[in-house]
Amino acid sequence: MSAPLRSHWSLDPQVVFLNHGSFGACPTAVLQHQSELRARLESEPVRFLAREAEPLLDEARSVLGAFVGADADDLAFMPNATTGVNTVLRGLRLQPGDELLVTDNEYNASRNALDVACAAMGAKVVVATLPWPVPSADAVVDAVMAQVTPRTRLLLIDHITSQTALVMPLAELVRRVREKGVETLVDGAHGPGMVPLALRELGAAYYAGNCHKWLCAPKGAAFLYVRRDLQAGLKPLVVSHGHNSPRTDRSRFRLDFDWMGTGDPSPYLCIPTVIRFIGGLVPGGWPEVMASNREKALAARRRLDARLGNASPLCPESMVGSMACVALPDSSAERPAPPLYLDPLHVRLFEEHHIELPVTAWPKAPRRHLRISAQLYNTPADYEVLGDALEALLR
Ligand SMILES: Cc1ncc(COP(=O)(O)O)c(C=O)c1O
Repeated sequence: MSAPLRSHWSLDPQVVFLNHGSFGACPTAVLQHQSELRARLESEPVRFLAREAEPLLDEARSVLGAFVGADADDLAFMPNATTGVNTVLRGLRLQPGDELLVTDNEYNASRNALDVACAAMGAKVVVATLPWPVPSADAVVDAVMAQVTPRTRLLLIDHITSQTALVMPLAELVRRVREKGVETLVDGAHGPGMVPLALRELGAAYYAGNCHKWLCAPKGAAFLYVRRDLQAGLKPLVVSHGHNSPRTDRSRFRLDFDWMGTGDPSPYLCIPTVIRFIGGLVPGGWPEVMASNREKALAARRRLDARLGNASPLCPESMVGSMACVALPDSSAERPAPPLYLDPLHVRLFEEHHIELPVTAWPKAPRRHLRISAQLYNTPADYEVLGDALEALLR
């Protein structure tokens, strides 16, 4: 992918930005559209929010539905994936002794939400330990399935893990646990725009996805998919007018989730714009965007593993999307493990070499790795700069 695509983003030219995964990055043309929407809102707030917003949001939801393979009526806009995950977990009606299953790769915020929900209702958190490095997707499925018991009520699983950048064998996991009567809540923070989605066919009960990461929407654009048969039992975290609305032209799920108090709907309204804009940057549209980001991440992983002398990668290629982890020399001498963004190597990469990417301490050997991201604005040269810096810093 050629460097000129970077001109569509306002990223700091002084920084080698290899961390699209943390918060995404929105193209300037889309931010411009968002500014126009905000100006329109503020020119007549009542006209916009009370009259114009609903059909615009319906349209945005239906474009998003087509993109993620879901009926628009099964999607609720959320400010972020964390809110979607909390909505589901806080809405569960659990009994003491019920078990909620999660892996040791779960994103910290979502794991916290699970712990709080379980503690409040006397349910038990069961953690499946995944192998690391990961030999195969089957090994992940086996590790999860080994923890399913007759008391398991729900599996909470990342579609793509944050700290280890694994694309989970999601369809297989959803199918296998469902055979045992267990529903799945997918933390899909990285899913939309990184991998093709077909939520209807997936059959998961819930999928919380971000649009501000790999779709490149403005910050504050996310959604929660809820399978139709589970919608009646679920309320938003914020109850507003929808609860007793006399309207009959849309479901209670729609009425409850479509208005959660006054807010700025512009991030949601930019979703159709960003889907069109990013898909228009390359001839093959979104399939090419996703495939080329993945190829770039894989090529960079191969190159960095070779430069660092790693004998084998941390997971099979089939589990790599637009992010990849590369093992670093063992840092077990540095205990306790530094928090995210504070690893000394992370700090030096940024301060001395102006390279932005996360370095993660991990409880199992090789105990420390870095995570690269690949987006349209990245070039192979970016990863060479990283390789040079690592060789200098680790020497
Ligand atoms: C796997 C995973 N889940 C959830 C989140 C949280 O996303 P947000 O802060 O947009 O809610 C992230 C963010 O990086 C993530 O990687």
